[in-house]
Amino acid sequence: MRMSVQADAVTPTHPIPPSSSSLDGGTLKDTPANRALRPLTTPQEVFEARHLQKAAVYADSKTLLFHGEVRDVLRQLADAGVEVDCIVTSPPFYGQRDYGVERQIGLESDPRDFIAALLETFELCSPILRSTGSLWVNLGDTYWSGKGAHKSNEIKQSARRFGARPQDYPGDGKWARPKQLLLIPHRFAIAMQDAGWLVRNDNVWVKPNPIPDQVRDRCSMSHEYVFHFTKERWYYFDRSPVGRKMPSGRVLPPLDTWVVPPSKGNGSHRASFSEELVRLPILSTTPPDGIVLDPFNGSGTSTVLARKSGFRGIGIDLNLDYCEQAAKAISSLANDLTGDED
Ligand SMILES: C[S@@+](CC[C@H](N)C(=O)[O-])C[C@H]1O[C@@H](n2cnc3c(N)ncnc32)[C@H](O)[C@@H]1O
Repeated sequence: MRMSVQADAVTPTHPIPPSSSSLDGGTLKDTPANRALRPLTTPQEVFEARHLQKAAVYADSKTLLFHGEVRDVLRQLADAGVEVDCIVTSPPFYGQRDYGVERQIGLESDPRDFIAALLETFELCSPILRSTGSLWVNLGDTYWSGKGAHKSNEIKQSARRFGARPQDYPGDGKWARPKQLLLIPHRFAIAMQDAGWLVRNDNVWVKPNPIPDQVRDRCSMSHEYVFHFTKERWYYFDRSPVGRKMPSGRVLPPLDTWVVPPSKGNGSHRASFSEELVRLPILSTTPPDGIVLDPFNGSGTSTVLARKSGFRGIGIDLNLDYCEQAAKAISSLANDLTGDED
C-alpha cells in the first residue's frame, strides 16, 4: 500500500523565547537557548530516500509507516540518516495486553526485563532524535497479583483477558509480590536518567470518570504518566499553542496535570491514544517542517495528528493489522488535505 500525495502546507509557529532578556532590539540574541528555537530539520530527500520508501508499508512525502520490530526499524532509520524532532509514544504497559505478535514487548516474566527492553528501545531512539528534540513516553503502572489466571467478571479486566499474565505468577516475593504496585513508570524514568536522559516533567494524565477498580482496600487508579525527556539542556519548546493564555496576553507554561478523557479505542486497537493527549507534546516540541516519530504507533494517533498539524511523521508497529489501520487513516487524511488545497 504505497501512494504519493502533494506536500501539505506547513503551519509556521513562532516560539516564545525563554525570557525577555533573550531579545536584542526585537531580534533573538545568538545564545544556545535561542539557537535551539530555530533547529534545522531533516532534508526532504533523506525522508523520501528510495530504500526507506520501499521498506515502508505506507509512504508519501509526509508520512512513513513501517511494519516491524521497533529496535530493527530504529536501526534502519539511523542508517538512513533520519533525524526526528519529537518522539511521542505509548509503549505496551507491563502485563496489560497481548498484541498477538511474536517479539512483542510487555509480557516479560520479570518486570526488570520489561524495563530493560524499553531502555534498549529508547537508547536506539537517541541517535535519531535531534539534539534539540524531545521524547514523550506515556506509561501506566501494574499491580502484582500472584493469584493465577484471573477469573473475575470485572469489565476492565475481561476486555483485556488473555489467560495468565506475568503478574499472575508467584513472583520473587520482593517487588514482585501480591498487592504490590510495581512503580514501573518511575523505575523506568530513573533508569532513563541513569542512561543520560534529562527528565523535564513527569506529567500526570488524570482520567475523569474511569471504570472503578474492583478492590476494597486501596484507591482506584485514575492516572498514568507522560514523561518528557530531552537529550540536552537547550531544546525546542514553543508554549504558545499549548500554554495558559492570560487576559494580559501573556502565555504561561501549561500545567503538568492533564485532565483528558481516555480514548474509547480506535478501530480494532483497544489501547489507542486520544488525539488530545498527544496534542501538547506534538505542538510544543515539533518545529515547522519537523518530524514526529511514534515507535509504537498502533492505530496511528500520533502520526495522524502530526499530519493534521502540517508536520512529517514516522510510525512503527509490529502488528500488521494496526499498520494497515494507520495507513488507511493517513491516506484518507492525505486525500482530504490534497482536496482542500485545490
Ligand atoms: C499501547 S499500544 C500503542 C497505541 C497507539 N498509541 C495508538 O494510538 O493506537 C502499543 C503498541 O506497541 C506495539 N508493539 C508491541 N511490541 C512491539 C515491538 N516489539 N515492536 C514494535 N511494536 C510493538 C503493539 O502492537 C501496539 O500497537
